Amino acid sequence: MFFWALLLIAFTASYLSFQSFVEYRSRYFTSSCSAIQWENQVRNSGHIHRSSGMSVLVTGAAGFVGSHVSLALKKRGDGVVGLDNFNNYYDPSLKKARNLLLNSHRIFVVEGDLNDAKLLAKLFDAVAFTHVMHLAAQAGVRYAMENPNSYVQSNIAGLVTLLEACKSANPQPAVVWASSSSVYGLNEKIPFSEADWTDQPASLYAATKKAGEEITHTYNHIYGLSITGLRFFTVYGPWGRPDMAYFSFTRNILQGKPITIFRGKNQGDLARDFTYIDDIVKGCLGSLDTSGTSTGSGGKKRGPAPYRIFNLGNTSPVRVTELVNILERHLKLKAKRNIVDMPGNGDVPFTHANISLAEKELGFEPITDLQTGLNKFVRWYLSYYGYNNRNAVE
Ligand SMILES: NC(=O)c1ccc[n+]([C@@H]2O[C@H](COP(=O)([O-])OP(=O)(O)OC[C@H]3O[C@@H](n4cnc5c(N)ncnc54)[C@H](O)[C@@H]3O)[C@@H](O)[C@H]2O)c1
Repeated sequence: MFFWALLLIAFTASYLSFQSFVEYRSRYFTSSCSAIQWENQVRNSGHIHRSSGMSVLVTGAAGFVGSHVSLALKKRGDGVVGLDNFNNYYDPSLKKARNLLLNSHRIFVVEGDLNDAKLLAKLFDAVAFTHVMHLAAQAGVRYAMENPNSYVQSNIAGLVTLLEACKSANPQPAVVWASSSSVYGLNEKIPFSEADWTDQPASLYAATKKAGEEITHTYNHIYGLSITGLRFFTVYGPWGRPDMAYFSFTRNILQGKPITIFRGKNQGDLARDFTYIDDIVKGCLGSLDTSGTSTGSGGKKRGPAPYRIFNLGNTSPVRVTELVNILERHLKLKAKRNIVDMPGNGDVPFTHANISLAEKELGFEPITDLQTGLNKFVRWYLSYYGYNNRNAVE
């Protein structure tokens, strides 16, 4: 009896160990196969298809600006690999939809966080990126009152993790990244020029972008990274950001809901230098094309590298009330306007870019006025959210 019991135990143990061996093997093969598959996807996506093209790591590729820049780069034959954490600051299904669009153009977006240093190292191992277009960030001014740490996590800690990966990469890529017009903060001298003081931010978002300008300067100075910072002025257009006024106004007007319009000091209208996405994309590509090269290697600087900052705006501010008038005309609907005093939560009364530096150095020339750009946005919005079909059925 005892003998049979022993035999049964021995048999069961060897069966279980065989099973776990099989499971281990299959797990090993599955994970190593998917690792190889993942690396191939990254390599193929980063492959350059034109002579003297570039391979670009685009962070925030599933975002508004990132998706447009990625498509433009791919279209002209550059290699593009995206990185995005698909966070839920706004509806992630819009990010997934942008991702599908990118996939259909053979652009692979890696789902991951800027703070994942191991993932960044793997990406630089897989592709010798010539450029990094850094657009991932916690955007938006008002959300900082709700979740201040998300700005520190992405715009400061994430930026440093990315720059560490860039400085250690061999070759070092040139870095072009999105700062913001918000760095001008309480500056009252108009139009805003790159040479103006930017030491009075009005929001935590602005403060993290200003910090980014100083952090990137350090990496340029110590490690020889080529750095270009772009101060975008209120970017709008198809596939835009639902948290921005032009987007939420459109949604509310269509749903018959009121819209809140802020009024500045002395009952003055707020104004923004609204800049159409295609113009911004041209500015980004112009910056990548003129970035020069980083000079460091093995984490050490070998000579001076370019450090540049440019305003990318439209140079023609428009009052927010006029923006609503234009939307009403395009939507053929009247807005229910609820006009209130601007709360002290980080917004500034107006923005106006001087772009002479970008014109001179990047050949930047915005050509889309707000009327034309909003028409394109509204057409996209109606189609994306199915209003055209709904009207057809009704
Ligand atoms: N849109 C504008 O008007 C405007 C104006 C000034 C500056 N900017 C700057 O331009 C850049 C792009 O803005 P956008 O309008 O496309 O915003 P967006 O929010 O649509 O895109 C940013 C993307 O980055 C991703 N992301 C955020 N944190 C991340 C992290 N830690 N790791 C990986 N991915 C992360 C998000 O998921 C998102 O898809 C941002 O840096 C923003 O601050 C935008």
